Amino acid sequence: MNIEHLIRPNIRNLEPYTPILPFEVLSRQLGVDPADIIKLDANENPYGPSPRVAQALAQAAYLHIYPDPECRDLRAALADYTGLDADYILVGHGADELIDLLFRLVTEPGDVVINCPPTFGMYSFDAAVNAAEVINVRRRPDFSLPVDAVEAAFPHPALWDAPSGVPKLIFVTAPNNPDGGWLSDDDLRRLLALPALVVLDEAYIEFSAHPSRFTWVRDYPNLIVLRTFSKWAGLAGLRVGYGAFPLAIIEHLWKIKQPYNVNVAGQLAALVSLEDREYLLANVARIVDTRQQFYTALQGIDWLEPFPSQTNFILCRVHGRPAAEVKQALARQGILVRYYSTDGLRDCLRISIGTPEQMTRLETALKQL
Ligand SMILES: Cc1ncc(COP(=O)(O)O)c(C=O)c1O
Repeated sequence: MNIEHLIRPNIRNLEPYTPILPFEVLSRQLGVDPADIIKLDANENPYGPSPRVAQALAQAAYLHIYPDPECRDLRAALADYTGLDADYILVGHGADELIDLLFRLVTEPGDVVINCPPTFGMYSFDAAVNAAEVINVRRRPDFSLPVDAVEAAFPHPALWDAPSGVPKLIFVTAPNNPDGGWLSDDDLRRLLALPALVVLDEAYIEFSAHPSRFTWVRDYPNLIVLRTFSKWAGLAGLRVGYGAFPLAIIEHLWKIKQPYNVNVAGQLAALVSLEDREYLLANVARIVDTRQQFYTALQGIDWLEPFPSQTNFILCRVHGRPAAEVKQALARQGILVRYYSTDGLRDCLRISIGTPEQMTRLETALKQL
């Protein structure tokens, strides 16, 4: 019996996603003790969560009861952290879940969305899963966003109400992954003047010298801002992200999200993280400090060209030798970095910022290559 035709055609033709290998698998593959692996390939936080998170989880009393579908306590704490009323805030199983939810809310097969590569891969991944058409507006060689090219992807304003062909979503990331660059207020305002929902992903905002635009959601009916606990709060493994949504949008997201999308452990850990934010933000400051020192160190290596970063990682272009070989040589020493071979990122490595000791080991390894 042939049952493959039952699968949605866009999914039958989809390239499988290649996820990062789990730590233990990598350690076995490399023959390196897990304790000796320096994992700088997924922008995780080298200091981990607040110690209070482990204490709270060990004492959690209600693991056998379903979680609060509305994340009430967490949203109240987020309102305090962000300065935006909780009515605008929805929590997700990572920011990743919220990206997928937005597609399910807005696009029908064939609807158009705008992606600005090189950037985070989940926007185009979820577009493919949801059978949306992607217009790729490529960033300039310095990774800045050509806003006029985004504007040019829209028809003349007289046609903005046309039933099809007008892009519905624009994904922009500030600071951007993988280069760490910023999007100015003026450029964001130009995007907001377009007749689409602008999804501004601020996953790395805590590491940036620029202020968040989270509270702008009060003033712009088409702005959505996504954030996460994965990076600054070290909770990548517990999957908690959140977003600010216009009230006319969030009303519908509440209807389609899985009722228990954020589990008890995730809600508790995120809440405790906000209570202990002073500790976590001190770690963020250490990471930013380490980033600045490591950036200077990279500038001293003549075959590497680092890009300035507002995040917890640095993108480097490798000159005069294959970046893939550099990645492999580092991996043999138990140092994992992210290698890219896609358009706009040829010969590039992205290095997450670890502890000062880890970065010194990496610097020594690079100098010896
Ligand atoms: C730009 C960006 N957005 C979102 C995420 C994912 O966030 P979460 O872990 O909350 O799903 C990442 C993770 O690397 C990212 O780089």
